[in-house]
Amino acid sequence: MHRKLFIPGPTEVEKDVLEAQLKPMIGHRHKDFTALYASVLGQLKEFFNTSQHIVVIAASGSIAMDIAGRNLVRAGRKTLCCINGSFSDRMSKAIKGCGNEIDILEVEWGQAIKPEMIEEKLKENEYDLVTVCQNETSTGVKCDLKAIGEVINKYPNTLLSVDAVSSLGGDLIFPDEMKTDFVFASTQKAFAMPPGLAIVIYSDDVITRGNEVKSRGLYTDLVQIHNYFEKKQQTPSTPAISLLNALDYQLGKMLKEGAVNRYKRHLEMAEYTQKWALDNGFKLFAEDGYASVTVSTIENTLNKDIGELNKTLAERGMEIANGYGPLKGKTFRIGHMGDHTLDSIKELLDNITEIWNL
Ligand SMILES: Cc1ncc(COP(=O)(O)O)c(C=O)c1O
Repeated sequence: MHRKLFIPGPTEVEKDVLEAQLKPMIGHRHKDFTALYASVLGQLKEFFNTSQHIVVIAASGSIAMDIAGRNLVRAGRKTLCCINGSFSDRMSKAIKGCGNEIDILEVEWGQAIKPEMIEEKLKENEYDLVTVCQNETSTGVKCDLKAIGEVINKYPNTLLSVDAVSSLGGDLIFPDEMKTDFVFASTQKAFAMPPGLAIVIYSDDVITRGNEVKSRGLYTDLVQIHNYFEKKQQTPSTPAISLLNALDYQLGKMLKEGAVNRYKRHLEMAEYTQKWALDNGFKLFAEDGYASVTVSTIENTLNKDIGELNKTLAERGMEIANGYGPLKGKTFRIGHMGDHTLDSIKELLDNITEIWNL
């Protein structure tokens, strides 16, 4: 039996989106591909109301962590990595792993990174790059991206990289308005697509910076990817054409709904889930006012067995997620992202209420 995915990615993919992958194959150097890619990028730019550049790469979102580490930091310059959970920690490891020196700004997991904390660090040190995770999928914490963007914008040599893997297309993220330089996401989360594509939205300053960096690698060379597109409107290596067909189709649906309505639907699902948790004696792991709209991380204050719950849920065709990494067992996570609706969330929570006798 299919288990409906209420995990924070991969999430449910509608049948018509899956079917959009079934179009016959085309050559990636043919004008048909140029037209497909132009349609995908045009729709993404419209959805995110941005004049920044966008590329879609055949990889999961983590590729963008290496791209940031290899293109956004000059030799001998430092990066400030903001950490408040497993994925922001992973980003710091990627930046360091690309041979860069990092400083860490870490807050207790469950807390949000605040703009004033970043500003304090920027006053003390010069940074080529600041990395933040807009939506920490491990802790269910979001940040105030607009306020962070405003602070970093005061420092013209400092770029802002944003991990929006589990929020882009669900939460409201507008790169121009929020003054971000590099935003990345994976398709298997709030885009409600199969995994396999990374979406990267980047500013002109990113390319200027990339040109000042020598070891950009090959697959991670954003300057080459950018220049190739400027010249030929295609990708330097073979793209995931079937996934791009599905993305093109799904973006049509997303534009029909609209970015703001899509956000409101996500907010409604998040608020319902979070109220359910509090009403039933649980606590939210996120600090007040910073709970994610795409994933709720709920403190397991009633000491429930999450593994057992998932076994029973599986018999009913549903699945939620245990806590991530060190938070396993101490928390559980409910993904309410992509094409889920308030009704599908209510159905899930009614089932959990019944199974746990809440
Ligand atoms: C916030 C965040 N960043 C990065 C990643 C890694 O993305 P991917 O698995 O698509 O490489 C994830 C995956 O869950 C995530 O939630």
